[in-house]
Amino acid sequence: ASLKDHNTFGIDVKAKTFISVETIEELREVLKQNYSEDILVLGGGSNMLLTGDIDATVLHIGLKGKEIVRETEEDVFIKVQGGENWHETVLYTLENNWGGLENLSLIPGNIGTAPIQNIGAYGVELKDTFFSCEAIDMQTLEMKEFDNSSCQFDYRSSIFKLAVKGKYIITSVTFRLTKKEHRLHTNYGSIQEALDEMGVVNAGIKDVSNAVIKIRSQKLPDPKKLGNSGSFFKNPVITVAALDNLKNKFSGIPSYQVSDTEFKVPAGWLIENVGLKGYREGDAGVHKNQALVLVNYGAATGKEILNLAKKIQAEVYEKFGIELQPEVNII
Ligand code: EPU
Repeated sequence: ASLKDHNTFGIDVKAKTFISVETIEELREVLKQNYSEDILVLGGGSNMLLTGDIDATVLHIGLKGKEIVRETEEDVFIKVQGGENWHETVLYTLENNWGGLENLSLIPGNIGTAPIQNIGAYGVELKDTFFSCEAIDMQTLEMKEFDNSSCQFDYRSSIFKLAVKGKYIITSVTFRLTKKEHRLHTNYGSIQEALDEMGVVNAGIKDVSNAVIKIRSQKLPDPKKLGNSGSFFKNPVITVAALDNLKNKFSGIPSYQVSDTEFKVPAGWLIENVGLKGYREGDAGVHKNQALVLVNYGAATGKEILNLAKKIQAEVYEKFGIELQPEVNII
C-alpha cells in the first residue's frame, strides 16, 4: 500500500501492510497479532520523513470522539480520541468558547501524536492545557494513564520520545480548558500586529486563533498544496558564551532567552543566512517564506529531502559552528 496520502511530505513509499483501526478492541486485536517491532504507528503523518519502503505493518489510528469528562465553575475537562484531527479539535473548542488551544490553531496532525513532541506555537505549548492521556502498552496491551508531570514535557519533547519511546500508543488526550477567564497569549511574534491589522480591539480567543491562522497561512505552506512537515529542525539552544561569540561575528543574530545561561537561536535565520532560503534541488526545496520548512515540490523522495537536510546542517555548522537537530522523525 502506498503511504503518499498518509504523510504530509507526500512521499510515495510503500508499506508491507496498512491497517486502520477505529476502536480500542480493533487496536488490541492488531497488536495481539503483531510484534511491536514490526509496527509503525501513524497519526496524521505530519511529523515524519519516510526515506524508504516500510518493511512493517503501518498502523493508522482512527479512534474518534470527544466528550466532557468533568466540569468546574472555571474549567472544562475534555477528552479527545487519538485519531481526531488537531485543528478541527481546536475549532470545536473555540465554538464552545473554551480557551487554551487558540494559539495552536492550524497545526497539522492528530490528537494522539501531539503529546509526543509537545507541539507548540506562538508562545503556547500543548503541555499548558494537557491534563492527562491514556495510552496502550504495545506489548502487554494494558492501558495506562499519564498525567502532565509524568509526561516530562519539554521543548518539542516528552517521555514518549525518550524513556518509553515506541512502547505506547496514545489513544486519547484530556485537556483542561477555561470557560470564562481566558488567558490570552498575544506577546509572541506578530500576533498583536496581526490583530491590529484585522482591526480587532478587545481580542477574544477566536480572534487570537484567526490571527494565528493568518500568520501561519502567510508563512507556512499548506501541506495539501505543497508537501512539508512544518519546521524540519529544532531551534538550537546555545550558551550565553557561545551566543556572545556569534554576536561578535554576526551582529544581527536574533535570540530568545530560555534560562539563566541559555538562549534559543532561530534555525530559520541560520539557514537563511547561509543563503539557502528558497534553494531547490530537483523537487526537494527550502521554503521561500520560512527557511526552517523543507518542501516537496511533487516527486521528491525521502532520501532527496534528507540529502538537502544534510547539506543545510553542514553549511550551518561550517558558518556558525551550530549543529542543527531534526525536529521531524526520520524513518
Ligand atoms: N527567521 C528568519 N528567516 C526565516 C525564518 C525565520 O530569519 O526564513 C527568523 C526571524 O528572526 C523570525 C524568527 O526566525 O523572527 C522566528 O521565526 P518564526 O516566528 O517563524 O518561528 P520559528 O522559530 O522559525 C517556531 C516553531 C514553529 C512555530 C513558530 C511560531 C520550532 C522548531 N518551530 O518556528 O513550529 O509555528 O515558532 O511559534 O520551534 C513546527 O514545529 O513544525 C512549527 C512550525
